[in-house]
Amino acid sequence: MVETVSSTLEKPIKASVNYLNFYYGGKVHALKDINMPVSEKQVTALIGPSGCGKTTLLRCFNRMHDLYPGNRYRGEIALQPDGINLLSNKVDPIEVRMRISMVFQRPNPFPKSIYENVAYGLRVRGESKRGVIDEKVEKALRDSALWNEVKDRLNDLAFNLSGGQQQRLCIARALATDPEIILFDEPTSALDPIATASIEELIVQLKKTVTILIVTHNMQQAARVSDYTAFMYLGELVEFDMTEDIFNHPSKPQTADYVSGRFG
Ligand SMILES: Nc1ncnc2c1ncn2[C@@H]1O[C@H](COP(=O)(O)OP(=O)(O)O)[C@@H](O)[C@H]1O
Ligand SMILES: [Mg+2]
Repeated sequence: MVETVSSTLEKPIKASVNYLNFYYGGKVHALKDINMPVSEKQVTALIGPSGCGKTTLLRCFNRMHDLYPGNRYRGEIALQPDGINLLSNKVDPIEVRMRISMVFQRPNPFPKSIYENVAYGLRVRGESKRGVIDEKVEKALRDSALWNEVKDRLNDLAFNLSGGQQQRLCIARALATDPEIILFDEPTSALDPIATASIEELIVQLKKTVTILIVTHNMQQAARVSDYTAFMYLGELVEFDMTEDIFNHPSKPQTADYVSGRFG
């Protein structure tokens, strides 16, 4: 069977980006009329040359831009099934960040123990029962493929872990509060090839339970881990399709040039 974008729509949509525009400081028009679906429990990759707006788009999903005054959104990101517009000023960004968590380019654990890094978000959410926290910390560490490596040293400082382990700890931290979507911004760009492979494997595992959006400048990585790919250029979404189609038969010449390495 030939798969087309219409089969995309057979998967439930977790979020839809509708005519999204974003302005830095009210001046730099960094995203221009972006429209795309994010399928539930699938991996969607954002690719494109440096400066095209990948990080900017990703950060709209958890309202990170609200941390700086003067930034402005127009359009919407509708989160399903309730359909709320994440960008509405009636929606509390803190609440959004509970539902949509983020993993950054460089591992950024807190200067705390391995255990406390994962427990932190649970405590912030008001969980105080030691037994519940223990259980959730273990589950998050298992789900991030770190448990066996750290179970005997949970009270060690997180900084004593290797780079790849620190990044998996950040993933455990993101998972602990049961987010609906996890955003990854070039999560392996600071890691060696072995640590990169383990993070990629983990991302593929995680989509069984959570929706994933990943920015990568590494096209092979997008091809390996994602189900859908959005190619962006100069703040616009040039093409969105199943990853296989974006890489094997893109419909726009700009996409073809980019995925074949002719520019970017
Ligand atoms: N804080 C900022 N203030 C003003 N312009 C910014 C800021 N951050 C990024 N930009 C601009 O927005 C555009 C998109 O950047 P970005 O989303 O970081 O691209 P990418 O992640 O694809 O490399 C670029 O032109 C960049 O210079
Ligand atoms: Mg970026």
